[in-house]
Amino acid sequence: MKVVSTFEDLRHQRAELPGPLGLVPTMGYLHAGHMSLVQAACQANASVAVSIFVNPTQFGPQEDLGSYPRDLPRDLALLEEAGVDLVWTPTPESMYPADYQTWVEVEYLTLPLEGARRPGHFRGVATVVAKLFNAVQPDRVYFGQKDAQQAAVIRRMAADLNYPLEIVVCPIVREPDGLALSSRNSYLNLEERQAAMVLYRALGAAVEAYARGVRGASELRSLMMSVLQQEPLAAVQYVSVADPDSLVEIEGDVNRGLFSMAVYFGKTRLIDNMLVGVNPVGSSPQSGHI
Ligand code: PAJ
Repeated sequence: MKVVSTFEDLRHQRAELPGPLGLVPTMGYLHAGHMSLVQAACQANASVAVSIFVNPTQFGPQEDLGSYPRDLPRDLALLEEAGVDLVWTPTPESMYPADYQTWVEVEYLTLPLEGARRPGHFRGVATVVAKLFNAVQPDRVYFGQKDAQQAAVIRRMAADLNYPLEIVVCPIVREPDGLALSSRNSYLNLEERQAAMVLYRALGAAVEAYARGVRGASELRSLMMSVLQQEPLAAVQYVSVADPDSLVEIEGDVNRGLFSMAVYFGKTRLIDNMLVGVNPVGSSPQSGHI
C-alpha cells in the first residue's frame, strides 16, 4: 500500500494503478462504517484509493474542526489489512493555498435539513469532493447513506459537472444496539452513549408505523418527536419526513420518504436516517439513487 501526501506523488502513484479504480473519501478515524465502503470498493474494482482529509471548509466556526478525532497510524493499519492500494493524505495548505478562491455550490438540495443548520457545510463538501475527483480520477466513488443529504448533493454535483464516474451509496452500519457508527460517537460519555440509542428507536417507530399503513407526514414526525422526548439527554434540533429525491419536506401523505433527524447529546450532534418506500441502498444501481 502506497501512502502519499502531495498532489504530484498522488498523480504518479495513481498512474500506476490498473483500472477500474474505486475511491473512498474519508476524514479518517476509521470505523466499520468507513470500512464497509472500502470493502465494497475492493470487491468491485481492480484498485482502491482512500483519501483521509479533515476538510476545514466544511466545518462552521463554532464546530469541532479543532477537536475532530484523528489516528493516522491506526487508519493506515486498517486500510493495509483491507487490501487498499493507495492512501492520499493531503495537507490543508496544499488543498487550500492562501490565495484560494474557487468553490462548488449545489443549489436547492443544500437548502433544507443539514444545509439549513450548517451554513456553508455543503459548499465545503462539494468543493473538496470535486477536488478529490479531479485529482484521483476514479471510476467509482463510495459514500454512506449515513449522510443521506451529502450523498444526494454529491450525486447532483457529479451529474451537473459531467464527472465520468459512478457514485455508489452503501447502507448505514450500526452498533448492535442500533446506533449508527460515526467518528463523533467517540465524544459521547457513557450516559450520552446510552441515551443515543433513542435515534434508532425513534426512526424505527416511524418506519414501523409506516409499515402498518400510517402515511401522514406530520403524524410520522410527531411520532419520532415523542420517542425522542422520552430521553432527557436528547436535545432535538430537527426531525424530518422529506422526499428522498428533492429533500423537500412532505406535507401530505408519504409514499416514498426519507426520515431523518439531528439530535444533540451534550455538545455532540448526531444525525441518522431511514428510507421508506425505496429499495435498500446499494442493492442495484437505481436503488442507490436517493
Ligand atoms: P466521514 O465522516 O469520514 O465519512 C466518510 C464516508 O463514510 C461518508 O460517505 C459517510 O457517509 C460514510 N459513513 C460514515 N459513517 C457511516 C456508517 N455508519 N455507515 C456507512 N457509511 C458511513 O463524510 C465525510 O467524511 C466528508 O464529508 C467527506 C465526504 C470525506 C468530504 O470531506
